[in-house]
Amino acid sequence: MVELLLPKNSKVKSGKNFVIKEKAKTKKVFLIYRYNPDTKENPRVDRYELDISDCGPMVLDALITIKNKVDPTITFRRSCREGVCGSCAMNIDGTNTLACTKYISDVKGPIKIYPLPHMPVIKDLVPDLSGVYKQYNSIEPWLKTKNNNHNDRERSQSPKEREELDGLYECIMCFCCSTSCPSYWWNGDKYLGPAILLQAWRWIADTRDEATDERLDKLQDSFKLYRCHTIMNCTKTCPKGLNPAKAISNIKKKILARN
Ligand code: SF4
Ligand code: SF4
Ligand code: FES
Repeated sequence: MVELLLPKNSKVKSGKNFVIKEKAKTKKVFLIYRYNPDTKENPRVDRYELDISDCGPMVLDALITIKNKVDPTITFRRSCREGVCGSCAMNIDGTNTLACTKYISDVKGPIKIYPLPHMPVIKDLVPDLSGVYKQYNSIEPWLKTKNNNHNDRERSQSPKEREELDGLYECIMCFCCSTSCPSYWWNGDKYLGPAILLQAWRWIADTRDEATDERLDKLQDSFKLYRCHTIMNCTKTCPKGLNPAKAISNIKKKILARN
């Protein structure tokens, strides 16, 4: 029988409350999802008060301050802290985005922070991305060539050919788009989702690549590609301002043109 209710152990409960004693004009409240697979406890939302005059302006700065000064058990990913590595992607105030480029001041009231939705959670704000990386591997994300007319020299492109990669090479693989896509939520095991399809188009659009037909053959599949119903959540949420929905539509058009 179809299970319509969440299992009891996945219901999110309210958790600990970390208050600051001193009166601070710049007090901000953070409500943060916590989950530890090593305990048998349900996920919970902990409440943290923070004097934000004491930390940098971004949500990631607040998370680092909380970890360093309030609660060292909180777990999240981050690396570059300037929007280029994609590792701090999470759901902030109801939107998938990068904690390091999201201003605390952009959110009125308490800031709710959850992991990227519809992904298994390893711990707290850290999603398990192994499934999506397996899908990335499946599109063979590297330049494939057949002839060696270039005598092992570099394969050059005209500026116009190179321009075809604009809006594609900037993708930082944060997966904000795929985890905001309803089709990916329900069919993420078979549908490749916007992040991986944008990457697939990146290689098809590259004039130096000589495996276009094989790539399109692999993608021409009712689940891998055609689960996209052009809902556009992906494009709306991309923190780098890219347009994965357009990349998906380009793949569909290319398949149509050759059939
Ligand atoms: S446009 Fe396609 S990929 Fe983007 S959110 Fe909608 S269904 Fe998902
Ligand atoms: S298209 Fe945008 S949202 Fe999607 S993975 Fe790339 S950078 Fe992230
Ligand atoms: S820490 Fe690298 S994108 Fe945020």
